[in-house]
Amino acid sequence: MKINSAEFVISNSDVAKCPNDKLPEYAFIGRSNVGKSSLINMLTQRKSLAKTSGKPGKTQLINHFLINKNWFLVDLPGYGYARVSKSTKKVFQKFITAYFAKRKQLVCAFVLVDSRHDPQKIDLEFMQWLGEHQIPFCIIFTKADKLSKTKLPVQINNYIHEMMNYWEQMPPYFITSSSSGLGKEEVLAYIDQINQEISTS
Ligand code: GTP
Ligand code: MG
Repeated sequence: MKINSAEFVISNSDVAKCPNDKLPEYAFIGRSNVGKSSLINMLTQRKSLAKTSGKPGKTQLINHFLINKNWFLVDLPGYGYARVSKSTKKVFQKFITAYFAKRKQLVCAFVLVDSRHDPQKIDLEFMQWLGEHQIPFCIIFTKADKLSKTKLPVQINNYIHEMMNYWEQMPPYFITSSSSGLGKEEVLAYIDQINQEISTS
């Protein structure tokens, strides 16, 4: 899919104030610093559409980006960021949870995990929660450029192996790098396919 336009629309912490349009949307979620905002920039080929930082905790609101004037990418704050205060963390968790529980336009959540790390409890629990709420999700392995060609498939296979302890089948997954652009076409093709299914149904 070619990205012809990508525009920031609105930031807020209240799901009720998210855009009213009935356009399909895709949300990026995962631990702080995993690369959610960078991936949005990589997919849209806009260097600083979403704000990124080397320090975790950069994205603090629900951010809607309108793509090709007919679907949304949504950048969310990371979960599990230890350095914000406990009360701030609770507020984050509350509106992130409300977003996923209430947002009818959400067609798929992309759960980002760092391809260098073994499965983390917080990610597995979040996927479990999505499953319980019947929210379709995919896994995106990020920062693939940071692993060697031999180590990368070993890590991915380990992850799949662990997932099979909890799930009957592996959700769709993508291996990406925001530095090299790896996985861009695959993720966009997946979104395009869902958009087309929605528009013809
Ligand atoms: P929060 O908004 O804090 O939750 O973080 P985030 O998940 O949006 O992460 P962000 O995109 O801000 O990236 C965090 C850091 O990781 C930045 O320093 C990025 O440059 C770096 N980074 C993100 N993706 C990649 C990648 O694919 N490869 C490499 N090498 N670095 C990456
Ligand atoms: Mg971010």
